[in-house]
Amino acid sequence: EWLWLPVVVLAYLIGSLSFAVLISRIMGLSDPRTYGSQNPGATNVLRSGNKVAAALTLLLDAFKGWLPVWLVLQFGPAWGLGWGTVALVGLAAFIGHVYPVFMRFQGGKGVATAAGVLLGFEPLLGLLVLLSWVLTLLLTRYSSLAAIVAALVAPLLYWFGSPAMWQMQPALGLAISAMSALLLWRHSGNIQRLLAGQESQVGRKKG
Ligand code: G3P
Repeated sequence: EWLWLPVVVLAYLIGSLSFAVLISRIMGLSDPRTYGSQNPGATNVLRSGNKVAAALTLLLDAFKGWLPVWLVLQFGPAWGLGWGTVALVGLAAFIGHVYPVFMRFQGGKGVATAAGVLLGFEPLLGLLVLLSWVLTLLLTRYSSLAAIVAALVAPLLYWFGSPAMWQMQPALGLAISAMSALLLWRHSGNIQRLLAGQESQVGRKKG
């Protein structure tokens, strides 16, 4: 009955691994905190011009959110860990990315990690939210706007979607809502730039 605590702490530590920084270091690129939006995330790594590094960052930052949730869903019940732990583990991985202990709590915006956590919580919900993200990105070319739309879609879909689509676990709904709120808050600078028409677009040169 105390096991949930080390499990949640471990999820936070896994979330704290910034793959934007690690992949850039391994591939000999500049630290993403030194250019562009200075954000340690896949979008900003893409601004280095290295698409492989950006794709790896996106995949691994998502994977570190998905893995702890999946592990608890698989093996938790045998250890007496329920939905509350699943929800806290997902939230902890996300918070680790945004406030990483290894980087003086100066982390990223949490988009990829939240996607991984959602896919772990409820694959169908995760895929639908991912679809809203892809569509917004393709239509507008704003990575931040796509994240903002997805962050609004996720809790709305969870709370107002049909109960036949996914299990209604209030703990998961609360974790999803909290992730969305923090993700939107982390995009306040992006929101200001979008409103001012100054946000940079993906796949387009500035100017
Ligand atoms: O992944 C974060 C994305 O939504 C915005 O990133 O670098 O444009 O602030 P960035």
